[in-house]
Amino acid sequence: MTRQEAEQRIAALSAEIHRHEYAYYVLDNPTISDYEFDQLMGELKRLEAEFPDLRRPDSPTQRVGGRVSSDFAKVPHNPPMLSLDNAFGADDLRDFDRRARSLVDDEPVEYVCELKIDGLSISLRYEDGIFVQGATRGDGETGEDVTENLRTIGSLPLRLEPADGRLPARMIVRGEIYMEKKVLEDLNRELEAQGKPLLQNPRNAAAGGLRQKDPRKTRERRLDSFIYNLVEAEGFPVAKHTESLDLMQRFRFKVNEHRFLARSIDEVIAWTEEWREKRYDLPYEIDGLVIKVNDLAQRARMGFTAKFPRWAVAYKFPAEEKETVVEGITLEVGRTGAVTPAAELRPVRIAGTTVKRATLHNEDNIRTKDVRIGDTVIVRKAGEIIPEVVRVVPEKRPADAVPWEYPRVCPVCGEELVREEGEAAIRCVNPLCPAQQYRAILHFASRDAMNIEGLGEALVQLFLEEELITDAADLYTLRERRGALVEIDRMGEKSVDNLLAAIDATRQNLIHRLVYALGIRHVGERAAKLLADHFGSVEALETAKPDEIQAIAGIGPKIAESVVEYFASPRSHDLLRKLRAAGVNMVGEKKAAPTEGPLTGKTVVVTGTLTRWGRKEIEELIERLGGKSSGSVSKKTSFVLAGEAAGSKLDKARDLGVPVLSEDDFANQFGPF
Ligand code: IVH
Repeated sequence: MTRQEAEQRIAALSAEIHRHEYAYYVLDNPTISDYEFDQLMGELKRLEAEFPDLRRPDSPTQRVGGRVSSDFAKVPHNPPMLSLDNAFGADDLRDFDRRARSLVDDEPVEYVCELKIDGLSISLRYEDGIFVQGATRGDGETGEDVTENLRTIGSLPLRLEPADGRLPARMIVRGEIYMEKKVLEDLNRELEAQGKPLLQNPRNAAAGGLRQKDPRKTRERRLDSFIYNLVEAEGFPVAKHTESLDLMQRFRFKVNEHRFLARSIDEVIAWTEEWREKRYDLPYEIDGLVIKVNDLAQRARMGFTAKFPRWAVAYKFPAEEKETVVEGITLEVGRTGAVTPAAELRPVRIAGTTVKRATLHNEDNIRTKDVRIGDTVIVRKAGEIIPEVVRVVPEKRPADAVPWEYPRVCPVCGEELVREEGEAAIRCVNPLCPAQQYRAILHFASRDAMNIEGLGEALVQLFLEEELITDAADLYTLRERRGALVEIDRMGEKSVDNLLAAIDATRQNLIHRLVYALGIRHVGERAAKLLADHFGSVEALETAKPDEIQAIAGIGPKIAESVVEYFASPRSHDLLRKLRAAGVNMVGEKKAAPTEGPLTGKTVVVTGTLTRWGRKEIEELIERLGGKSSGSVSKKTSFVLAGEAAGSKLDKARDLGVPVLSEDDFANQFGPF
């Protein structure tokens, strides 16, 4: 084949493959079989291998052709990528409408209603119709270049289809990258089989997928896209948002089909009601609806507040509630012995899943709500939170229903339960209670604690039943029982060896993991880190006096007391002796002096949801700036960093006169980040 012939054939093949990809990924209507598709792709790959200089960046073979990147370059967003204010019901929507109309002299306003896809927003740049760069939202001003990873997403066009025979020299669009529910379930099944942590929700799954260093890993996540915002398309003027959606569709972007042009706020409200139930039938998750002014000239007159556009709002659905019957009340014994009651329910569909249990939290909650077996109750499931019983429907109470009595003994070991002063929880204080041991070992092995890969609920249960272990320290003696392990059902030699290697590896863990893994009451990851940093060895911590512990910024009297109590117990002594004998690392990590920075000497409490940082990220950032982050507000707190939906900590800060900073204040004072 001559070079010229190859060039023509490559162009023809690329165009054909793009057409099939569009039919498959965007229209969900495949035009050829997978086999035929692979044939075309194979031929194209062979030609490109033979004539490497004819391989173009927008070639369909380049979806996974990208290099492995170690760091994502920063990409400035111009204009910035904004987020939206929320509306939590019809009243909020009417307020939004009134405000919007008042800004355009009460002219009539049309609204475009769209689904709010639960994923990760991205910005895409095209030059002469070719995809050249894509970036995450980041903090809205600057994102990260994830071009190579975005290329792997089948529904994202690498090359645009001309509209009216033309392509814009420059075009910027924005949209959402998401994962279908089914894909998430499939991936989680695989992860579970491999004993790896599961993906928590589609947003995390998409975010994690896009941040992979190797585009092939991104490809495996089978991500998808919806484009909903045209920022600019040189030479293609539009006056309405609806026109821009149509235009983007002609360029072959995947634009969501569920959109509605409302002529009044009443029509908007009717649409929100229509989607309240329908949303569960979608193959992907939405976390609300987005309502946008259609006319772009009106938008320009409405402008922005400090944070949000005044011409759009995110509508959030109310938490769904359903009626069902309490068929029983059961108790679960946790790691620290807390005995938590749960209502066993007649199965009911709420928010897209079947709910059979709902937490009843504690004794006071059951008593206040007076929940009885046989009662009809209202159950609520809000977001990803575990379902809870909201209230009883008294008219439907059976005549023979009796108030529920909290048992006096532990349902697992039979020891007497205690309720300590000022505590809501009722506890089993028998340290030998099998339920507690089980939970304690699971906690010890969990990801944020010692992180023993592959050791999950089923195996811990099995090892306890087979009496191969009685506590967490025994895990380190399992190697001596390799023979017994291999004989156990379900475990092959290879998985036994993998597990033993995973256990061995944790001997070298940094000690803050161990301190957390011990499961000392009130000692979470952050407190464990502070304790490890301060004392530098488990031994120093074991012999520490309450005053010294409490003097650490970020550690209060409750934690201090609990630490001392823990190490005073002979059982803890025994466990630590065994861990030490097993060669588990007990020293290191004492921080000489804290990092010097703008926050040196300051204690910061973070509360509410931040948009720029996750909880761990902001805590690390505070540390890097020299500060300490703490979980509770006191007079010693330097300031509170409050995000969305901040609650009691914010109130307390105001009561105590502790300064409160918004995310923007924080970024302005201590940034740029
Ligand atoms: S419009 C200024 N439309 O929701 C306009 N956003 O808080 C900004 N989202 O960050 C966005 N689906 O990640 C818009 N159909 C949609 C959306 C959508 C999901 C996300 C997006 C944005 C957030 C808004």
